[in-house]
Amino acid sequence: MNPKTLLIYDTKRGSTEMIASWIAEELGSVDLKRASEEVDVGSYDLIIVGTPVYNLRPLETVERFIERNLDALKKKKVVLFTVGLSKRLARFCLNKIESKYGIKLVTEAVFLGKLGFINRMDEKEVRNFARKIKETFYSKEEPSGTT
Ligand SMILES: Cc1cc2nc3c(=O)[nH]c(=O)nc-3n(C[C@H](O)[C@H](O)[C@H](O)COP(=O)(O)O)c2cc1C
Repeated sequence: MNPKTLLIYDTKRGSTEMIASWIAEELGSVDLKRASEEVDVGSYDLIIVGTPVYNLRPLETVERFIERNLDALKKKKVVLFTVGLSKRLARFCLNKIESKYGIKLVTEAVFLGKLGFINRMDEKEVRNFARKIKETFYSKEEPSGTT
């Protein structure tokens, strides 16, 4: 059976939202929600959290989401991705979240985003990441109509 999957994100300028929507599209069945929405984390098996990086930090709404649900998150499979204009800085932010909250991640990624006319987004890389999650945590589809 496929895991019940939640993808939580927030965005200021749209790039993290776009990345989240590519991941959701690849996974197929996933509940896509903004970090400020109330959600019952306990009812999910796999939780993907995505945040853009502003001044080396995640968005506050995403941090609040993690803090509100920390106990539940520690019992779940958690994937984290950060989005920035520098992979090095996005990695720094991701590592900081991981160590600050002590969440054990099943996998993680840093993606490049966009800012005004600078667009470093790599849709293929994002979709490949999502496909790997799917291969690892989702069951293979059974051929139908064989009876
Ligand atoms: C004020 C400001 C601070 C930023 N700080 C960082 C940063 O510390 N590290 C980084 O990699 N990108 C930084 N960025 C770039 C954003 O992370 C990037 O534009 C990202 O794609 C924005 O995501 P969003 O469109 O989902 O809001 C900054 C952008 C702005 C405007």
